[in-house]
Amino acid sequence: MGTPWDRAADGYLEHWIPRFLPYHTDLMRELAIPEGARVLVTNSGPGGNEVLAAARAVGETGHVRATDASARMVEICREQVKNAGFDGWVQCAQADAAAVPDGPYDVIVCAFGLWQIVERELTLRSWSRGLKKGGKVGVIAWGPAEVDDPFEQIRDVLHEVEPDVSTHSHSVVADREKTERMFSECELSMVRHTVVRHSLTFPTAEQFVGALRESCTFRRVWETIGDERFARVAAKFYDRCGGPLEPLTFAPPATIAIAARPGDEVTLLDRPSVRAVGTQRR
Ligand SMILES: C[S@@+](CC[C@H](N)C(=O)[O-])C[C@H]1O[C@@H](n2cnc3c(N)ncnc32)[C@H](O)[C@@H]1O
Repeated sequence: MGTPWDRAADGYLEHWIPRFLPYHTDLMRELAIPEGARVLVTNSGPGGNEVLAAARAVGETGHVRATDASARMVEICREQVKNAGFDGWVQCAQADAAAVPDGPYDVIVCAFGLWQIVERELTLRSWSRGLKKGGKVGVIAWGPAEVDDPFEQIRDVLHEVEPDVSTHSHSVVADREKTERMFSECELSMVRHTVVRHSLTFPTAEQFVGALRESCTFRRVWETIGDERFARVAAKFYDRCGGPLEPLTFAPPATIAIAARPGDEVTLLDRPSVRAVGTQRR
């Protein structure tokens, strides 16, 4: 029972959360969340750094609602929040990303989750309507794509070996114009678009593939095609990166995009006052 993300959750906390910490830190710094703010973190996963950073920033006079579609992710998130001593002002709940109850919010955050959301347009509109005046939406997604990035390489190999099995493409947020359009079609206006990168290290290529297969987006692929076919995908990937025992160090780019309601005045890192382009339709 449960979903691939439920089964990936414990491993995601172990293998990916520590590696993604610098990316989450960048997103949260750019958002400049003030003390006392109300923050919604969607696609929160197992209580990632963005949830804890939001809790720290708002303090006990603020409020954080962390939601995820996966029951197991939410369970772990709740434990993480409790262990950090933030449970007095952080609420964890199983919910779709489009759900914005108990608003309006000063900030809505979505880290590495936007491309998992099938109803993306509906979700972005719902976020726009769930913002306070001067509120902002902050997302981070992988990209722009680089050919030698192992994330891209393994997706590429998958398309070659298993053309009928797809993974989500993340690349839209990386394209400034497409991102601007996506937001403007959903009652939002982009106020910042920044690319960041940090080093990720795996002792071996095999451990990278294992962490993707068991604890991340490739869990669904593995459960769909089974061990044998997945092993063929992995073998082809190892051919490209020098073998299963080769150490992997790479610095994948990720794009941070921040948006606000058209016409609103918002505060960002190093920019206390930015007017979002467009006319308000409140
Ligand atoms: C790659 S993880 C990101 C977790 C965390 N935000 C991070 O940055 O490490 C994507 C998460 O999105 C969740 N998810 C996928 N579709 C969703 C939806 N429609 N609504 C809410 N959560 C969703 C998954 O359960 C998973 O926990």
